[in-house]
Parts: sequence; C-alpha cells; structure tokens
Amino acid sequence: MKSEKVNILSSQSFLGMAVIAITSGKGGVGKTTVSANLAVVFSAFADVTVVDCDFVLPNLHLQFGMDNPPVGLVEVISENASMNEPIYKLKARVGNYITSLNFVPSLSSPHFLKNFDEIRFREFIEFLEKKSDIVVLDVSAGLSKLALLSLSVADEVYIVANPEISSLNTASKVLRVLNEMNKARSGAIFNRYGGEKSIVNSATSMLGIELLGLIRNSKLIPESWEAGVPVVSFKPKSGVAKDFIVTAERVLGIRDRIRIYGKLRLRFDR
Ligand SMILES: Nc1ncnc2c1ncn2[C@@H]1O[C@H](COP(=O)(O)OP(=O)(O)OP(=O)(O)O)[C@@H](O)[C@H]1O
Ligand SMILES: [Mg+2]
Repeated sequence: MKSEKVNILSSQSFLGMAVIAITSGKGGVGKTTVSANLAVVFSAFADVTVVDCDFVLPNLHLQFGMDNPPVGLVEVISENASMNEPIYKLKARVGNYITSLNFVPSLSSPHFLKNFDEIRFREFIEFLEKKSDIVVLDVSAGLSKLALLSLSVADEVYIVANPEISSLNTASKVLRVLNEMNKARSGAIFNRYGGEKSIVNSATSMLGIELLGLIRNSKLIPESWEAGVPVVSFKPKSGVAKDFIVTAERVLGIRDRIRIYGKLRLRFDR
C-alpha cells in the first residue's frame, strides 16, 4: 500500500485550492453519498477537507462510521470551540493507496439554527481553505437561506440529481439561482443511474450544464452506509466505486469523457 498523494496539482487540468459544494433540488438524491466518495477519491490526489453543511439533518458522520462526534461546526460557529477542534483526521482506501482526509461534522441544534453567525461560518471555511487544497461541502437540498450561504462560499458547485424528470426539474430551478450567483464552474452528477440513456443524453440541454458523472444504482451503497465506510473504500473494485472514481477525475479535470452504460451492461457490472 502506498500512502503518498499523486501529484496532479501542478498539472494544467486542476487549478487547485477550490471550495466545492455538492447540492441538489430534491432531497434524498445522494448528495451525502457523493460528497463522501468524491472527497475520499480526491484525497488520493490532494489535501482534502470535507464538511457537513447540512445543518438541519446532518448525517455525513455516519458515512464515515462516527456515531456521535463530540465537537462539530455548531461549536465553532457558536464560539464554544476553536477552529481546529472539530477537524477529524480520517484514513481511507482508494485503490492501492491509503490516504488521509479531514472531516468536519455537524450536529443539528435548533438553538444554533436560530442564531447562525454567518460571518463566523465564512471565516471558518476560509480557515479550512488555507489548510487544504480542496474543501468539499455537503450542502442541504434546495434553496433555504443556509443552503444559499454554503453555496455562496463555494468556487464550484455540482448538482446531484436522479435521472428522472421530477429530480431534473427541481435541479434546474437551483441552477437558475446559481447562474444569478455567477458560480465559476458547475456540473451535474446523476446518481442512482439505472440505464436511462435517453434522459442522460438530453441532460446537458435540459440543465444547460455539463454532465460530469453517472453513478449507478447499487445495493452496495446502503451496505456501505451500514458499514460506515464510503463505497470507494468499502468495495474498491465494484462498478459503483469505479463510477465515483471516474466522476472525481472528471471534476478534477483529469479525465475527458464518461461512458454511458445501458441497462444490460449495468446488470453485469456491479
Ligand atoms: N447510487 C445509489 N444506489 C443505491 N442507493 C443509493 C445510491 N445513492 C444513494 N443511495 C441511498 O439513498 C439514500 C439517500 O442518500 P443520501 O443520504 O446520500 O442523499 P442526500 O441527497 O444526502 O439526502 P438528504 O437530502 O436527506 O441530505 C441513502 O439511503 C442511500 O443509501
Ligand atoms: Mg445528505
């Protein structure tokens, strides 16, 4: 097992130093799953911090196998903890690499939500940016005030949708708002893909942004949640783990194309 990172940060393809937000129109489409897996793959290439910015129903800590993290974003923003305290160092596996990444959890608290200190939040994200090459934000669904705040601190925004019309409709509403916010680069990631080629082929024209990734529907995802290990580490050789690796490489700009599988190919490639 190797432990050093693959140095791509000096390559032309990746600009380095980015805050990347993962968002969606509808809830439950797979943002947290995507955030965790992309962050783990990125960690093979760069210093990564992944932050749970779902302040209402945070659960990224469960994907990383933590039940009840003692300190999180809430404590930093309410100034009951220093900025270093809620940064947990995690080990992860990507292919033949053992990598490490930073994780900042959040635990919901009604009191905290009422008195959310936006300035302190922005300062904390800036603090994390100085410590890492890439900061990944797992943002709550839709366009709530706090979701928009998280999106406003991001350099790049990726929208997760399921390949079905209702999911795409809400995604396009979020994209309209993102356009008004002038986000430098954004792209779509289709999760729970089950071979719906036609909807995928028309995604770019429907959403007006590039389709960066297709993640198949897989029973390994609920299993990976149960295990508390993102699927890229849990089952590194599986088709769905490969989907995440391809998507992460596309986000980093080190891979040109995705392959759009049909139903038949997916059935034999779990
Ligand atoms: N590719 C997939 N294949 C199968 N199941 C999936 C896949 N992606 C996500 N899921 C399942 O869908 C559910 C929701 O996933 P996740 O929590 O990542 O969504 P979310 O968008 O973050 O939800 P929320 O809006 O509540 O934050 C989980 O139970 C997860 O196991
Ligand atoms: Mg989530």
